Amino acid sequence: MFLTDEQKFMLEGKMGYPAQLGMEINVALGEAFDAEKMVRITGAHLGGISIRSAESAIMRFVHELADKGGKFKVFTTTNIICGDLNQWDKLGMLPDDRIQQEGMMEAITRMGATIMNTCTPYNLGHVPRFGEHVAWMESSAIIYLNSVLGACTNREGQPSAIAAALTGCVPEYGFHLKENRHGSIVINVTCPLKETFDFSTLGYFAGRDAARKGIVVFAGIDWATNDDLKHLGAAMATSGCTAMYHIVGVTPEAPTLEAALNSTAPELELEYGEKEKKETEEFLNRDKTTNLDWIQIGCPHASIQELEQVAAALKGKKVNPKISMWINTPQPIIMMAERLGYADTITEAGAILVADTCPINMTIPYLQKTGFHSVATNSAKQCFYIPGMCCGMTTHYGNIEKLVDAAVNGEWR
Ligand code: F3S
Repeated sequence: MFLTDEQKFMLEGKMGYPAQLGMEINVALGEAFDAEKMVRITGAHLGGISIRSAESAIMRFVHELADKGGKFKVFTTTNIICGDLNQWDKLGMLPDDRIQQEGMMEAITRMGATIMNTCTPYNLGHVPRFGEHVAWMESSAIIYLNSVLGACTNREGQPSAIAAALTGCVPEYGFHLKENRHGSIVINVTCPLKETFDFSTLGYFAGRDAARKGIVVFAGIDWATNDDLKHLGAAMATSGCTAMYHIVGVTPEAPTLEAALNSTAPELELEYGEKEKKETEEFLNRDKTTNLDWIQIGCPHASIQELEQVAAALKGKKVNPKISMWINTPQPIIMMAERLGYADTITEAGAILVADTCPINMTIPYLQKTGFHSVATNSAKQCFYIPGMCCGMTTHYGNIEKLVDAAVNGEWR
C-alpha cells in the first residue's frame, strides 16, 4: 500500500506510540480491504464512549493511548454517554457509573476530543462538506453524513475511528470511493409521507427488505425535512446495517434516477404503498397491550424543531403521574429550547428533557433500577433495540401526537 513519508514515519514509531498503533490499525484494515492508499480526513466522530458500549477493554485502550501522549490530529467529537451529566442524581443514575464515565471522557478529552455527547453532531456544528472524507461512528450519523451531506465515511468501529483521529487518515476503500456510492435497488414510494414518523417507518421497511442487498434509491419523494432524513436513515441503518441511501431529486448524489444508479438497471425494484406502511407500523408496535410506563422521544437526539413540535403538543396538558416522559436531545439544544420557551412548556407538563444519553447507552443496573417495562416511542430504531438491550422492555410505536395522548391518559390507545 502506498504511504506518504509522514504516514511511514508514524508507522515506524517516529511520531510516538499512539500514532504508530493508529497507523498499524489503518494498514491492517487497508490490507484487509485491498486499499491502495490512505485518504486524509478532516474529522472523526467517536462512538463507544458510553461505558455501556465501551466496556473494560476499550476503556483500557483509550486510557493507555491518553497516558502515552496520544493527540487527535483532526476535529473529533463524541457520541452519547451513559447518563445526563447535569441530572445524574435527579434521574437516580448510579454514582459508580458516573465515576467510570467521567474517567473515559477525561481520557478522550486529554487526547483533544470536543465533548458533544450526541448522535447528531451535524446539528451542533460538526458538518463535513460534500466530498469531504471523515471517520465517523454511530450508524444513524454515518448514514446521514453519506446520504444527506454527501461527505464520505465507512462504518467505523471504536479502534479504527480512534486510529483515524490519531493519524488523520483512513484507508481508501468502501464509501471513500465514488464507484461504491451508487444505488442498485429502487423503492418506489407510492403513498404520501405526511410527517417525520412516516419516514422512520419507511426507513425500517427499506432496511429490512432491501438495504442488505445494496444501496437503496427512493423514487416518488419530492420533499423532506432534515428531521425526516435523519429518521429515515436511522431506521434503515438499524434494520439494514446500511450506510447510504439516495432520494431522487432530494439528496445530493441523486439529481436523477439515472445518476443515482450510475446509468445501470436496478437489481431489485420494490413498491412501498399504504399496505407496506401499515404492515411495518404494526410490526414495530410490538406491545399489543395498553400498558406503558416510559415514553421516549429523541432517537436520534431531538432537534430544536422537534422540541418545538413536542412543546406545541404538550402545551396546557399534564403527563399522567404513572408515566415518565423523556425527550433526549443534546445539551446545547436544551439551552436553545430554554431561550425559546419550549423547555418551560415541556417541563411544566411534567416531561423531562434529558441530555447526553439514551436508553440503549444506559447501563443495565440503571435500567433495572428504573423498573420500566413498556416503552412508547416514535423511533423505529428504538423499537428494534429496546427489547434486546433494555432488560426485555416492550415497545409501542406511534407519532408525537399519539405519544402525548398516551402520556396524558396513562395508557396506549
Ligand atoms: Fe442516538 Fe441512542 Fe438512538 S445513540 S440514534 S438516541 S439509540
